[in-house]
Amino acid sequence: MLRICAINLYSLACILYSSRVTIEKFLADTPENLRGTILAFADSVKKITAEIGTAETSEAGSQNTFGENQLKLDVLADQIIFGELEACPPVAIAASEEQSNEKVLHADGEFSVAFDPLDGSSLVDSNLAVGTIFGIWKGKGFIGKTGRAIIAAGYAIYGPRTTFTLSLGEKPVEFTLQKNGEWKLSLAKMEIGEGKMFAPGNLRACAENKNYLALLDFWAENGYQLRYSGGMVPDVHQILVKSKGIFSYPGSASCPPKLRLIYECAPLAFIVEAAGGASTNLETSILDEKVLDLDQRTVIAVGSQKEVDRFRKFLTV
Ligand code: AHG
Ligand code: MN
Ligand code: MN
Repeated sequence: MLRICAINLYSLACILYSSRVTIEKFLADTPENLRGTILAFADSVKKITAEIGTAETSEAGSQNTFGENQLKLDVLADQIIFGELEACPPVAIAASEEQSNEKVLHADGEFSVAFDPLDGSSLVDSNLAVGTIFGIWKGKGFIGKTGRAIIAAGYAIYGPRTTFTLSLGEKPVEFTLQKNGEWKLSLAKMEIGEGKMFAPGNLRACAENKNYLALLDFWAENGYQLRYSGGMVPDVHQILVKSKGIFSYPGSASCPPKLRLIYECAPLAFIVEAAGGASTNLETSILDEKVLDLDQRTVIAVGSQKEVDRFRKFLTV
């Protein structure tokens, strides 16, 4: 009886603690330059949230460096984030998925940031959840570095709620945007365990990539739960929240890997590995892949250690 009371008191204390923890309190002991840069992204997400509900989903009539038609929302989210970063002196360089070159913002800044202002933007017209992804790297520039230079990474999800997930290297935490504009801690110290859930991207590659097809068969034959929305951010966040599973996006000759190393894969791999999970590009951790080009794409699987190991085993037969 005493034990049950103790557990209830503990869980009550956790609820009370998290209900009072805002992002500013969580970052109270973080150095000002890093805290300010993270809050610049958190403020951007609030502004994107205010727009995404009613903004047009039509095309902007322009293309990004990947030759993809930009939506007005891609451009709007990009402008909002640059607006915040231009007022953030610690940011020396900013690279966006929607811009062809990195931009020098503050010559004396200590960090370089790479971000995808709106990931999954083609899903907005179907009203599916989309996200913003960012990584904060030590020093100036990205070329020649690996994801090990990332000191903090995070993502937002614009869904039924707006959430902001963040890691500075330790277990990721999630904040939920409140009506009063505060970010309230909603999930503390997320960890990835083992379990049967899969989010298989780029299935069209199976026509040529028979190893991927064999892995799909394994998942189907072994009762894995399919959870795939087409939006990388919610698809990966689900693995953290449910504490299990794998997200994969390999390729084939005619359907090559599409996801970008610095804007999408490295930040998400940083967060998943911080949660005790794993990542792979089939050779190394995503965080050990050297950046040769800002628009570099990579094979990616992120998730629990066992599932990522299985992915690599099947795909490299
Ligand atoms: P973006 O909208 O920034 O171009 O990226 C979308 C990505 C990612 O969210 C998702 O996993 C992947 O596109 C889905 O790709 P397919 O449409 O090829 O399945
Ligand atoms: Mn993207
Ligand atoms: Mn995008």
